[in-house]
Order: sequence, then C-alpha cells, then structure tokens
Amino acid sequence: MLTVNGQFPGPPLYVRKGERLIVNVYNQGTYNVTIHWHGVKQPRNPWSDGPEYVTQCPIKPGANFSYEIIFSVEEGTLWWHAHSDWTRATVHGPIVVYPKIGTNYPFPKPDAEFPIVLGEWYKGDVMEIIQSALISGGEPNTSDAYTINGQPGDLYNCSKPGTFNIMVDYGKTYLLRLIGSIMNEEMFFAVAQHNLTVVGRDGAYIKPIKTDYIMITPGQTMDILLTANKSPSHYYMAARAYIGASAYDNTTTTAIVKYRGNYSAPSTPAFPSQLPNFTDINAATNFTNRFRALANKEHPIDVPQTVDTRLYITISVGAVPCVNNSCQGPAGGKLAASLNNISFVEPGVDLLQAYYRKTGGIFTADFPDVPPYFFNFTADGLPSNLSVPLKGTKVKVLEFNSSVEIVFQVTNIFNAAENHPMHLHGYSFYHVGSGFGNFDNKTDPKGYNLVDPPELNTVAVNSNGWAAIRFRADNPGVWFMHCHLERHASWGMDMAFIVKNGPTKLTTIRRPPRYLNPC
Ligand code: C2O
Ligand code: CU
Repeated sequence: MLTVNGQFPGPPLYVRKGERLIVNVYNQGTYNVTIHWHGVKQPRNPWSDGPEYVTQCPIKPGANFSYEIIFSVEEGTLWWHAHSDWTRATVHGPIVVYPKIGTNYPFPKPDAEFPIVLGEWYKGDVMEIIQSALISGGEPNTSDAYTINGQPGDLYNCSKPGTFNIMVDYGKTYLLRLIGSIMNEEMFFAVAQHNLTVVGRDGAYIKPIKTDYIMITPGQTMDILLTANKSPSHYYMAARAYIGASAYDNTTTTAIVKYRGNYSAPSTPAFPSQLPNFTDINAATNFTNRFRALANKEHPIDVPQTVDTRLYITISVGAVPCVNNSCQGPAGGKLAASLNNISFVEPGVDLLQAYYRKTGGIFTADFPDVPPYFFNFTADGLPSNLSVPLKGTKVKVLEFNSSVEIVFQVTNIFNAAENHPMHLHGYSFYHVGSGFGNFDNKTDPKGYNLVDPPELNTVAVNSNGWAAIRFRADNPGVWFMHCHLERHASWGMDMAFIVKNGPTKLTTIRRPPRYLNPC
C-alpha cells in the first residue's frame, strides 16, 4: 500500500488561517506522485497546486518536490490527496485550518475534535487493479470495503479488533471533521440516535443545519457538531454508499461512539436506523439543498450579481471506438467521459509551464462555452453517434476579475444516472442553484440564490439535473476542473481554466519555484 509516513489515512496538517506551510515530498514509492491541497485557493501560486500534467510534472520515484501552501481565506476542514492517476486511493489526509489568533469559531468551542476520513480498503495494489481495467476499456473495479479512519469496521470479522472508536463524555460537544476521500461513491453518514449539526462545508462556515444524517460526495468536507446527550452506551457511527443505480455488497462501514462511565454496554451497538437506503435520491437531494452560507459581518460573502462569462457544460459518460475492437466497454468500445463532448487528454508537459513559458503545441484555448448540440439531456437512450466524444487538451481562458457562471448539465446517454461531484481548483465558488431535468435559461436563473449561497469547492450535480455556480476570476493561474469520481476523471471528465494576470504585481502569477520536476 502506498502511504505517507507509513500512515493510512495520512498525517493531518494543522494550521491557522493566514499561515504558510512548506511540505517536502519525497517519493519513495514505485509510482509517480504529486500532492494537491484540496480546497486551498493558493492565491497566485498555482505552482504548488499539484495536479499532475496540469500545474506540475510528476514527482518520479526517487525524486522530491517542495510545496508552498498559502492559507489565505479558508477556515475549517479541508484535505490533501495525491493527484496522479489513482494514487489518492491511499495517499490522503486531513487539513485543519483553525481561526486566526484572537478570532473564534462562529459556534461554541467544542470540547474535542476528531477527523473522520471516509476511505476505502483494497486487497491489492490499487494502481495494478485500476490500470488493467482502464487499459481494457471497461469499468475499474471498486474497492473491497469502505473505511472510517482506515478501518473497515466490525461488520467484517477480520477487521473487528481495529474498529475505529471515539470516547465521549455525557454532555460534551465534539467537532467531527468529515472528509469524503472515497474514490467513486457518495456516502450517507449518521450516528445512531444522535442528531448532528453541520456548521461548515468545504472550508467555509454555513448557517447551522440540524440533521440526523449526512450525504457527502468525494471531494467534500464538512464540520459537524455531535453532542453526547443520549444515555451512556455504545452507538454505531456508520457510512453507507449512496449509489443511484445498482446495489452491491459491502456498502457499509462502521465505527463506534463510546460513552465514558459505568454502564453495561450492549454486545452490539445501536445502528443508525435513519441512515438512508443506498438508492434514496430524495434523501440525498434534500440534504444537499439545505446549505446556506453563514454570510454575516465576520464571514461576509461576495456573490457576483452580474455575469461576464457564461458556460453551459454538459457532463457525459460515453464510449470511444477501440483500436483493435476488443475493448470491454459499451458496444466494444472504450469507456470515455467528457465535458461539452471533449474528453480531456493529459499533455506531455504540464499546462502551467507551457502557458508560463509560452510553449506552443501543448494545449488549445478552444474549450467550448456550450455543448455542440442540444437534445433532451436527461432523457435516456440516444443514438450512439451522440455518445462518442472528441479528444483534446482544451482550456478556457478567463479575463482577470471577470465574473463567471457555469451551469453543469448532466446527460443520460448510457442511462448512467450518477451524480457528479464537480471540483474546481484555485477557487471556491457560490452554488447559486440546481434542479432536475434540462436547465432552462429563461426561468431557472429566476430561482437563483444570490443572497447566501454556500461557498464550495465541490458541487454535487444531480444525476438527472443541473447545478449553477458563480465565481470571480481573481486568482491568476492554471486551474483544473474535474469530476471527483476518479473513474470519470480518468476517462476524461476534466478541463482547465487559464485565468489571465491582472494589472499589478499583486494580481500576477508568482515566479516559479527554483526547482521544478522534469516531465
Ligand atoms: Cu480533490 Cu483535482 O482534486
Ligand atoms: Cu462524474
């Protein structure tokens, strides 16, 4: 198993808002690796953002790279993860950003805190398992079990002794820092008989949400308060995959919340009966729609009220023809995924260097603003010629400080009804609206929330619908955007923005670090 400092999940990073952190990465493994600081905006500093072939060449086995991470505005829970092929499966860990000295949480200080990392367990070398599936063009296998803080839990006999547990005192309140580092599935999460209060999301505070279950996608993070106010006993904390379509075994992982004190604990802890069923789309959407930014004096927001650049981006899973016609994807093809029908191809040199040094021939600046054709996107079963994407390394160039709106539209070409957690690097964006069916540009914008939309870095776009986001392009650089389902990202559901420099030195990309890894 590829790990950082021998730990799975990897070591947490603790910082305060406004700090700068240097992380030296030494690759002692056998695969290329890079590290991404998910949700950290890295103002003017794309050099340390991490996605392989986007902002840097990979750190090869035996090589090293020094990341400089700038924590400017985010506060709460984020995470770091490898950003090279599927290495993030085991190479990831929490980032905790505390308030600046002299400032406080916008909620009563918790008595203690616990990172809760939702991950996965593989019985073999992840990269070997995945690569063989990707080459044959079929669907990469999923993992063998989900994990909470590295442990599959006691629903499996073999991992029973190591089941993760937290000790709590009656009457105290705990901050759970929940991290969605699963590769391909969204997860429901709950604690038996207890209510949860969500107070933060993706490194920004929100208006508190009282709930008895959570839905979290790959890439998202949540700050959750848990008050130990039930009769002292043992309670399961459980996570279950939310999969729109098909069921499979091993969907649930457990940890245990144990009260301190004198009582006789049950032989089996109480299970969270409120945990939604794995196909419960309403439970997923209802929860997701409840987020609102805190938006107060201490934590103001700045939602663009007008738009300079508008993109309408279709999200599709399709297939491309196979060279020798022996692939295992639909119609003998190779599975592919696309944004506006462009399936992203990794360049041979990273986009950032190519852009900064004006090297031609690495990418083209013609990522389309709209899909190439319009049809009933959420209806099923289209002619197969509409499902073959083009391949290319295309970017969209944005003017500095322009206000941008993106409407993501899911298409249902292969009846592949899945949510897509779309993630943007270098920014957080405002999630101003979402809905089912085809986006209607006359009526739907009227329902936008331009007052207190949540500030996110990863938005779940509904399997049968759309989501609209807005942001101001005030961070110059090259910034990756992709689906955070690893399967889709590796099939090409990615693109990049180049945000031009502004007029002053402080609105210009910083100089590259002295050492850059060669490709
Ligand atoms: Cu969390 Cu581009 O990734
Ligand atoms: Cu996706």
